[in-house]
Amino acid sequence: MGLCGVGCLHSIAKWVLVLCFLAFCIQYWLNKKQHLTSGEEIAAIVKKYSGVKSSEAKTAFDKIATVLRRKYPGHILPEEDMQWIFMNAGGWMGSMCLMHASLTEYILFFGTAVETSGHSGRYWAEISDTLITGSMRQWREGELQAHIFKSGDTVPHPMGNATAVYFEADTWMVEYGQGFIPSTLTFALADTFFSTTDFVTLFYILRVYAKALFMEMNASIDDWRDYVKHNI
Ligand SMILES: *[C@@H]1O[C@H](CO)[C@@H](O)[C@H](O)[C@H]1NC(C)=O
Ligand SMILES: *[C@@H]1O[C@H](CO)[C@@H](O)[C@H](O)[C@H]1NC(C)=O
Repeated sequence: MGLCGVGCLHSIAKWVLVLCFLAFCIQYWLNKKQHLTSGEEIAAIVKKYSGVKSSEAKTAFDKIATVLRRKYPGHILPEEDMQWIFMNAGGWMGSMCLMHASLTEYILFFGTAVETSGHSGRYWAEISDTLITGSMRQWREGELQAHIFKSGDTVPHPMGNATAVYFEADTWMVEYGQGFIPSTLTFALADTFFSTTDFVTLFYILRVYAKALFMEMNASIDDWRDYVKHNI
């Protein structure tokens, strides 16, 4: 049987089954659990602040952050933890500022001051981007023409899809993702790890994700304490 005997094939088959079962369980949990928000809800908030000049993007983000803190108290990172972090993935380079992240959702500000393009990534998550300024193109798999999106538009990125993305200079947006978020990190970090080797950026990304997860853990403990107080 060459390199892999019957026993070895058995153990590979066993691992494949275990992984399929785990994936099934995670997807079941994702479908059943309650989420903080949705792509439509975030798009509706962001749309109100879209259409600004690129020089006013920062002001628009500040206003959106205030609205998010009011709407999702205890789930949005405080102002002192807001940090614009470079992000290299799929060949493009942008900058992101994380607002919320859990194991199943995230909200972040994203954009680029220079023209950039590359691979969108193929995720176990459903992602949408609502532009506040600038323009981007999305070239979908199998199509021969790109879709063009302008400020106020929401760019869909369904689970399992891959596209090419092109961002004009000074394009800024708010991104919402829902799915199994830790699985998106391999794509998000690969270019930083293997191409730019910018380990300071890698540290910043992991640190802010850890802060966000800690905040969610704290919020769950709080919910649980409330539950115990009112029911026991
Ligand atoms: C996602 O993929 C499906 C199947 O290939 C395709 O029909 C759809 O247009 C794609 N959507 C986007 C936004 O890429
Ligand atoms: C944890 O939750 C409590 C109660 O809501 C809050 O007062 C505290 O600031 C939170 N701590 C952190 C680090 O988020």
